[in-house]
Amino acid sequence: MYSNRVLQVESITKVYGKGDNKTEALRGISFDVLKGEFLGIMGASGSGKTTLLNCIATMVKPSSGRILLKGNDTSSFKGTQLADYRGKEIGYLFQEFELLDNLTARENVILPLSLHGVTGKQAERELRELAKRLDITNVLEKFPSQMSGGQKQRIAAARALIAKPSIVLADEPTGALDSKNSRILMDKLSAINKEQQKTIVMVTHDANAASYCSRILFIQDGRLFHELRRSFERETTESFYERIVTVVAQLGGGSANVL
Ligand SMILES: Nc1ncnc2c1ncn2[C@@H]1O[C@H](COP(=O)(O)OP(=O)(O)O)[C@@H](O)[C@H]1O
Ligand SMILES: [Mg+2]
Repeated sequence: MYSNRVLQVESITKVYGKGDNKTEALRGISFDVLKGEFLGIMGASGSGKTTLLNCIATMVKPSSGRILLKGNDTSSFKGTQLADYRGKEIGYLFQEFELLDNLTARENVILPLSLHGVTGKQAERELRELAKRLDITNVLEKFPSQMSGGQKQRIAAARALIAKPSIVLADEPTGALDSKNSRILMDKLSAINKEQQKTIVMVTHDANAASYCSRILFIQDGRLFHELRRSFERETTESFYERIVTVVAQLGGGSANVL
């Protein structure tokens, strides 16, 4: 039984390259993610955040250690099981949106369903509901080049959510957005996390974005350095933000190093 642990990361290491070109990107990282958590991962550039997310997404193979999703070892998945895992259990949100330019917003959003042969009324209902939640109903017929960055990222968020994944992985989702659009995106992701108990793991440099999380792991040189938990009943976003900024300052010897 996996109980309410959606994800278990157990002693993950990742070494890229060989000999003089060797980079130890992850040096033994372990943590669990519970259902409904909104987990933030922070750390300086090069600390291993993207590598960690890509290991969870099975796009990068860890050098050692295990990653379990709902109790199943992700390294054991093959063929359709692996495709299902990538396509249905995981939703991925990228910094640069990664929308397909020749598809409309609507086509981009339903792409994960089309690829799995799921279309029709159910998909249409899901799309309408998500579009309303993310405030993108009026841009669904537009192409990416006709949308603002904020709209593009909310379309990408809808695409990450449409297949109802067990976990959403987001790599710097506000990295290419201005502060207003960052706030809009975070408000919406946070509402979806709270109202649907959607589990989200988000890598970010941005203390404002991180302040929406329920817990934050800080990574330094491929190792866990610190953890912060927000006490939801009592703590405001502002107070959590202050605590995050304090750790970030310790992490890099000044936020300039971290950002
Ligand atoms: N495909 C790769 N090949 C070789 N080195 C890599 C590769 N991807 C990342 N690295 C190295 O691993 C370290 C961690 O990178 P990354 O996970 O991208 O960090 P972050 O996302 O925190 O900036 C860095 O030193 C980076 O140069
Ligand atoms: Mg990265």
